[in-house]
Amino acid sequence: MSKAKTIQSIRGVHDILPSQSPAWQHLEGCFRELLSHYGYSEMRMPILESTELFKRSIGEVTDIVEKEMYTFTDRNESSLTLRPEGTAGCVRAGIQHGLLYNQQQRIWYTGPMFRRERPQKGRYRQFHQIGVETFGMSGPDIDAELIALTARLWKILGLINIDLELNSIGSAESRKAYKAILVEYFSTDMSLLDEDSKRRLTSNPMRILDSKNPDMQALIQNAPSIIDHLDEESEAHFDQLKKLLDAMNIPYIINPRLVRGLDYYSKTVFEWTTNELGSQGTVCGGGRYDGLVEQLGSKPTPACGFAMGVERVLGLMEAQGISTDTPVPHFFMIMAGDEAQLAGMKLAEQLRSQFPQLKLICNCGGGSFKAQIKRADKSAAQYALIMGENEINNNSVTIKPMRDRDAQQQTLPQAELVTYIQSKELFS
Ligand code: HAM
Repeated sequence: MSKAKTIQSIRGVHDILPSQSPAWQHLEGCFRELLSHYGYSEMRMPILESTELFKRSIGEVTDIVEKEMYTFTDRNESSLTLRPEGTAGCVRAGIQHGLLYNQQQRIWYTGPMFRRERPQKGRYRQFHQIGVETFGMSGPDIDAELIALTARLWKILGLINIDLELNSIGSAESRKAYKAILVEYFSTDMSLLDEDSKRRLTSNPMRILDSKNPDMQALIQNAPSIIDHLDEESEAHFDQLKKLLDAMNIPYIINPRLVRGLDYYSKTVFEWTTNELGSQGTVCGGGRYDGLVEQLGSKPTPACGFAMGVERVLGLMEAQGISTDTPVPHFFMIMAGDEAQLAGMKLAEQLRSQFPQLKLICNCGGGSFKAQIKRADKSAAQYALIMGENEINNNSVTIKPMRDRDAQQQTLPQAELVTYIQSKELFS
């Protein structure tokens, strides 16, 4: 019989291995704690939503909806999509559960998102976001709070060299007027436009500003700036946001060409970018989306949020040499024979009850004494606890230091093990 072929994960989709998960947990833990200090609560949304939700929120003529969604027809003929981002689902859930109207909400979420992009370093088809959405606050104070807490997260993680790029894309009305000016500008000499830009000229002209084509850059640099065409209210909002950021000592770069790739934004938009991750240097992006709740069928509710790419933040930590400690077990229990296993596993449970913070691995799957010592060594445990015939007969246990080669192994009555562990101050 021929050997069965192994199956690989699909392109752009990755496993997060046990050796990698401490870094993930560290980032998630820092974020969770920080968010609870700022008064935010977690929401867990479904991964699968109706396709209509993303079409109506992200926008029909965006890259995400046009080319990147994983969409399929369910058995009952309804069209479903694996979420490409979290904002739409968060708003959908907020409306459905009556959390938004006339209320203030500060919500965060994390989980996998799916976009069928061309995979490369920092760009995946399944990736993870940590996101925050706020509702019911229309002023620039909440925009500033979101930016401040992101800046604080970089500090907590020890990250440097991340720039805050800031822009305002104004209200829907001022954007409409600005788009007309932009279309006029880009239409002057159509031969200067690439194919993508020609298409966007009629469908979504502001996205031309986002083009990465080097041949288009001179034209884009000279394009009319949205900041010069803001309505009065958006301008005042933007000015106050800048004052708040100045007061909080958060540096920013005004980038009038920052437009973001999703259609729901209004007024403030921002991105945190780094030059240490190659072409996928945006680690976090967000902004205000005051029209989205109404667009999805509820009463008008101001909103602002952001999401960061977990893989990119972790990639930057790696690039900057920030390591996260893999938790080291305190003890590895070695048990030679069936009798020893009974005594050893009993003792292990007693110790776990006595010391809730104890990290103790019990040898499972048998093996000679030598093989078990090898496993204890590989586990990186500080000490091996040895349970053998002698120990059973004497109600004792042997403690073998695994890391300090000069320290002696010793055999103690089991009753004294608690005092021994206390004396080592393992949990401080
Ligand atoms: P976004 O800019 O599309 O915004 O994504 C946010 C972040 O997710 C990006 O800055 C990037 O770090 C990461 N990201 C996006 N696509 C990929 C990918 N293919 N592979 C790896 N990382 C990726 C949003 O999704 C909005 N929902 C953010 C938001 C929340 N705006 C308001 N509230």
